[in-house]
Amino acid sequence: MTHATATLPPDTALRTLDELPGPPGWPLVGNAFQVHLPELHLELERWIAQHGTVFRAQFGRDKLLVISDHALVTQVLKDRPDGFRRPSRLAEVIEEIGIQRGVFTAEGEAWAAQRRMVMASFSPGHVRAYFPSLVRVTETLKRRWQKLQAQNAPMDLQAELMRYTVDVISGLAFGQDTNTLERDDDIIQHHLDKIFPALWRRMNAILPYWRWVRLPVDRQLDASVKVVQQAIDGFIAQARERLQDPARRAAPQNLLEGMLVAADEPGSGVGDAEVAGNVFTLLLAGEDTTATSISWLLYLLVRRPEALARAVQEVDRVLGPADGGASWTPERFAELDYLEACAHEAMRLKPVGPFNVVEAQKDTVVGDVKVPRGTMVFMVLRQDNLDDRFFPEARSFQPERWLGDDAPGTVGNAKRVSMPFGAGPRVCPGRYLALLEIKMALAMLLQNFRLEGVATPDGREAREIMSFTMIPEGLRLQLSPR
Ligand code: HEM
Repeated sequence: MTHATATLPPDTALRTLDELPGPPGWPLVGNAFQVHLPELHLELERWIAQHGTVFRAQFGRDKLLVISDHALVTQVLKDRPDGFRRPSRLAEVIEEIGIQRGVFTAEGEAWAAQRRMVMASFSPGHVRAYFPSLVRVTETLKRRWQKLQAQNAPMDLQAELMRYTVDVISGLAFGQDTNTLERDDDIIQHHLDKIFPALWRRMNAILPYWRWVRLPVDRQLDASVKVVQQAIDGFIAQARERLQDPARRAAPQNLLEGMLVAADEPGSGVGDAEVAGNVFTLLLAGEDTTATSISWLLYLLVRRPEALARAVQEVDRVLGPADGGASWTPERFAELDYLEACAHEAMRLKPVGPFNVVEAQKDTVVGDVKVPRGTMVFMVLRQDNLDDRFFPEARSFQPERWLGDDAPGTVGNAKRVSMPFGAGPRVCPGRYLALLEIKMALAMLLQNFRLEGVATPDGREAREIMSFTMIPEGLRLQLSPR
């Protein structure tokens, strides 16, 4: 047994999982039927209130350790890839569907090689080269909203933002524009829309029925995977064609080209199959997450008029009046500190991944608990975010707390406690791109519109629904021209 995650005094008595407190379970299924999946994060938070920051639970055959202390969570997240891995079930489901493993589900050496390739495609120089493509998509979103607003058409906030992030990420990952913002006939997107929900369903299924019975939905899934795989192979061939040009090879224009260039480095350990797997992965990891973060941000911002006014002031000062994105540059966007603080604050209160799950790769120790190999460790990330010990008036939306000038000494603390992008060697590689997308969407909105409202139809607080990400239910966006 290793003590990979513990720095305990030598005479500390270790506890076993069975000795921990936890919600009483039923025979065989444990606590599985006590949780309603779309509210799993809330159930975990309720259990913390009853059983403390370290407790046990059981979902079917899986024994779980649940932890929520941010320092302990950080230790576990850092102990990868050796001590902990992503749950093996996730990789199995993805592989069974016929999708090549990407960096999110790869492990060990294979993960390390893919991570190097993906990180190279996200290098600051490369992301700079992606800037014009982001501006183009943001302008398309603006035109769409101007049209909808002029027609007084209702705007489903999450759906609008999904179109935006789909166009940004698929443009970068496929190496060519999809434009779901202006057209509804994108074939690949229709197929992707079938694959991602199927993944979520299968990952959470109690029984893998599809191994015995193939329902129409499963046959449709096979067909969709095939279409998307073929399309990705085509995009790779076209990108390879473009990369014949040495100038293009020196300055890749999108994530696909960036990954291919990195894969071609001698000794990279990856080739076209891994690139294809990571095209899928980037779409999956980059669409819902970013759209949902922007939805929550607008929801919170409209409820703090002083913060909204300060955000408008910053956009006016740094970017000036709307000019179709002509004066937008990476340098100017780097100056939008208040907008960035708004993004961090929204992700603190409404992290789109309110928990993260890993599996112990060997017998180990977490805190003072002996954790056998194969145990699932659920890390609840929002608990300390909402604790007044770490964030004064923790439940209120105060972007200022992320600005060094307004809150001396607390920014470092805030960044250690709130981890919306994870931590350690597997921290989100898309975080800077995501922050740029969030700031661009917000800057476009504030330059061109007045944010009149972001609310549910009945005016109640937006419910948090857990699917791939923690989505706000039923928000409508109301704008007027500025
Ligand atoms: C606001 C938006 C986003 C949020 C909140 C977010 C959050 C996260 C989180 C919590 C993880 C797990 C980290 C860990 O286990 O420590 C992760 C991993 C990952 N994210 Fe993001 N993400 C966002 C946007 C993106 C974007 C735009 C991309 C790419 C286009 C992306 C690509 C990935 C990948 C590839 C991984 C897996 C990394 C690995 O396992 O080595 N994410 N993200």
